[in-house]
Amino acid sequence: MDFDRETGTGPVTRKAVLRAALAAGMAAPAVLVGVPALARTLTGPDAPAPEPTPACDDGDDPTPPQMEGPYFKPNSPLRTSLLEPGTAGIRLTVAGYVFGRACRPLSGVLLDFWQADTNGAYDNTGFRFRGHQFTDSRGSFALTTIVPGLYPGRTRHLHVKVQAPGRPVLTTQLYFPNEPRNATDQLFDPRLLMTVRDAGGAREAVFDFVLDVPQDPGPSPTPTPTPTQPDGAWTAGRAYAAGDRASYGGLRYLCLQAHTAQPGWEPPNVPALWRAG
Ligand SMILES: [Fe+2]
Repeated sequence: MDFDRETGTGPVTRKAVLRAALAAGMAAPAVLVGVPALARTLTGPDAPAPEPTPACDDGDDPTPPQMEGPYFKPNSPLRTSLLEPGTAGIRLTVAGYVFGRACRPLSGVLLDFWQADTNGAYDNTGFRFRGHQFTDSRGSFALTTIVPGLYPGRTRHLHVKVQAPGRPVLTTQLYFPNEPRNATDQLFDPRLLMTVRDAGGAREAVFDFVLDVPQDPGPSPTPTPTPTQPDGAWTAGRAYAAGDRASYGGLRYLCLQAHTAQPGWEPPNVPALWRAG
């Protein structure tokens, strides 16, 4: 089952766990990211060959490309906000991460956004609603802009080029859920739907890119099983299996994905790992 970006439901994935860790300001746990260099150091020449690099196989194939369209311009300004004095339109933020094939975040990735204004027009003489930025050390990006207007023949969309250092450019487009024209736009691709929510008259969107960039996979995300109390108090350092229960802050939680608990990963902080109830 694929992740449903409209409802935010779907299987909890390795990438979702990483995302939860990143969003919580935590370093991704060693059990997920690992220390492959150390692991190899400890592997003698007679040891079995390591397992092949797994694909980013949690339902997120690399983000699909889409046509550039007629309105891209090079040399956009370096800026994370496309808002200028007097900019009209519904405020929109787009935030997310860029991952490689092993579902590990990529830093220093160039993202170059361009879009129509609130009336559906592109600025082809200047650089309004055009800007580029780079992912930070945790692989995250954030764009501040407006909801693009509609123009004939297309549903609502953003354009973006995404490029990891030394790698090919991914040119694609991002879409908004619940747009009537999504049903008739030949270019529309549900794999490129952002998750969008209303935020006091503005819109907050989330989208994660997966680039076809090889990465060291790290060890298996499956932690070493250790006995757990079926319904004890949540405890940092303990390995939990999917289906385990723990109590925290007077509430009971169900473990959704096997992991080793860490400070900062208290059940209320990591919805990818724990569900109340
Ligand atoms: Fe366009």
